[in-house]
Amino acid sequence: MGVDLSTRYLGLKLANPLVASAGPQTGSLDKLRKLEECGAAAVVLPSLFEEQLEHDQWAIHSLYEHQTEAFAESLSYFPEMEDYNTGPRTYLQLVRESKQCLKIPVIASLNGATPGGWVHYAKEIQSAGADALELNIYFVPTDPEMTSADVERRYVELIASVRREVSIPLAVKVGPFFSAIPHVMRQFARAGANGLVLFNRYLEPDIELDNLQFTPRVLLSSRHELWRPLRWIAVLRDQLDLSLAVTSGVHFAEDVLKAILAGADVAMMTSLLLRHGPETIRRLLPEISHWLETGGYSSIEQMKGSMSLKNCPDASQLERANYMKALTSYTDT
Ligand SMILES: Cc1cc2nc3c(=O)[nH]c(=O)nc-3n(C[C@H](O)[C@H](O)[C@H](O)COP(=O)(O)O)c2cc1C
Repeated sequence: MGVDLSTRYLGLKLANPLVASAGPQTGSLDKLRKLEECGAAAVVLPSLFEEQLEHDQWAIHSLYEHQTEAFAESLSYFPEMEDYNTGPRTYLQLVRESKQCLKIPVIASLNGATPGGWVHYAKEIQSAGADALELNIYFVPTDPEMTSADVERRYVELIASVRREVSIPLAVKVGPFFSAIPHVMRQFARAGANGLVLFNRYLEPDIELDNLQFTPRVLLSSRHELWRPLRWIAVLRDQLDLSLAVTSGVHFAEDVLKAILAGADVAMMTSLLLRHGPETIRRLLPEISHWLETGGYSSIEQMKGSMSLKNCPDASQLERANYMKALTSYTDT
């Protein structure tokens, strides 16, 4: 008898734990169809960005109410947005069309950092039929007057303001740079998050020596980037009543298994799909089944969280315990 790969994420029943995360690989109907055909259990559409939405709202407002030269000039500040066709209308159309032609759940994504008018689009996204919404909060605080409590308050207010717009499940995708991760994640839950997507990869800008500019570089992930979300998923699993998704560094079937053992409900993938295409999902699924069977597990649900902080044989491994030993026993091989 085969193993049961199904899992629950954000209250949605998924056929397996493989989800295509937000990125170019989920940006068109053709790509989405192909992902479903290859076995993806759900898809997260690329983000609609706060900057696009604030621009859009302001542009519409200005167009109809103040047809000034300043408006025309203002548009020139957004050349990249003018060329980038995924404005809100196109986005809502993608949500609607993907809902019409896919059977798997479609999760839309909003990406921003400040509470503001743009969050009303959450409601539009819900009306367009999205099964759930992922809110990616990407904020880089640079003001020394802003305390960590101020930063956390901003996250919480933003989550609460999106929550007020929608009744569909809400996942929050954030980076790892908080001093007290379990506490802040619990605040997110209280503000209305139903799930966490851990972790956002921050783009670190490099300096171009030719023109003395900071330039962000988009690099695909490396496998070791899984280790950070693995630890925090394991720590959070039994402490918070939230759905958990791993994002960053899921490249092999083993990585999916580790994510589930730590306590994730799903493993999300972008770099892997960009490098090897959607067909790679067809390869992962039997490998995952085979490992479960060999390990004596009958289902993903049975295996989920068996290496969480509460369940792992040596919980101190997730804390400081072996830090000094690991450093002092390093060998240059
Ligand atoms: C080219 C590219 C575009 C991305 N676009 C988005 C996006 O629109 N919204 C979002 O939340 N994450 C976006 N991501 C982040 C991915 O969803 C994912 O979290 C990240 O790449 C880590 O997962 P991976 O190791 O599987 O690549 C993007 C990543 C890449 C490489």
